[in-house]
Amino acid sequence: MTNLIEIKGVTHAYPTADGPLPVLDDLNISIPEGSFCAVVGPSGCGKSTLTRLIAGLMFPDKGEVWLHGERVRSPRSTVGMAFQNPVLLEWRTILQNVMLPLEIVAPRMPRAQKEDRARSLLALVGLEGFADKRPSELSGGMRQRASLCRAIVHKPEILIMDEPFGALDAFTREDLWQLMHKLRAEEPFTALLITHDLRESVYLADQVIVLSGRPARTQYRLDIPLPGPRPLSMIYTPQAVEWLAILRDQIEIAQGRAPVRSGAVQSQEAAQ
Ligand SMILES: Nc1ncnc2c1ncn2[C@@H]1O[C@H](COP(=O)(O)OP(=O)(O)O)[C@@H](O)[C@H]1O
Ligand SMILES: [Mg+2]
Repeated sequence: MTNLIEIKGVTHAYPTADGPLPVLDDLNISIPEGSFCAVVGPSGCGKSTLTRLIAGLMFPDKGEVWLHGERVRSPRSTVGMAFQNPVLLEWRTILQNVMLPLEIVAPRMPRAQKEDRARSLLALVGLEGFADKRPSELSGGMRQRASLCRAIVHKPEILIMDEPFGALDAFTREDLWQLMHKLRAEEPFTALLITHDLRESVYLADQVIVLSGRPARTQYRLDIPLPGPRPLSMIYTPQAVEWLAILRDQIEIAQGRAPVRSGAVQSQEAAQ
């Protein structure tokens, strides 16, 4: 498998009144084409900064970001993004919101074709009856489904999600996790998910990257070698519980605390 994304030695600092604030420090991540990568790490360590660098909205001080064999030097239309707040436009219907990226990226595509594409995605996520509603008429979970449709309607090479399920209740969140597996089966894309939910990362990802505290380095990488789609019961298997314990320990280390279990020191060594 070739790598769709290569983050090579990325180092970045924000200028502030008190001098530069180092946020990313020699970060290295490879994401194979068609795979799902989850990134977890302490709050404020630089995760959202990483998404902006991949999308070409910002450029690193040092190091390189490569997308599909090309160095990222400008904003990319081949990227789809979804955030914790679905940011749908209230003056547009759900259908019109989902069609928006096509209007920007494929202005010459016939309107009927844009609409067909948007409607088929809305059907895939169970929103076929809501195409003509306004965002405020939908529940939080439904709005996030619509937001995911909008993020992938133009068939982006990479779907970047920054804590997309963070504001949802636990059961709605689990529904959306399952929907994510369904979308991947129907719509091949490479995914980068920023999350603070370790179960979410283990259930969805092929690899989980743990970032250290700020400035973020690649502290640990966990491979989850299971084919998708996965049943929700996967989270309760002994293997998944073991993976969760390893990640939990790595988060403790990232936060500068001692690991919960003594085994964590060993697993950190295994990553190096
Ligand atoms: N535009 C900016 N200017 C200065 N500091 C920023 C800017 N954006 C983010 N930061 C700071 O950089 C650090 C990392 O931010 P961010 O990437 O949003 O972290 P995370 O998403 O992991 O919580 C935080 O301390 C944040 O306050
Ligand atoms: Mg963030």
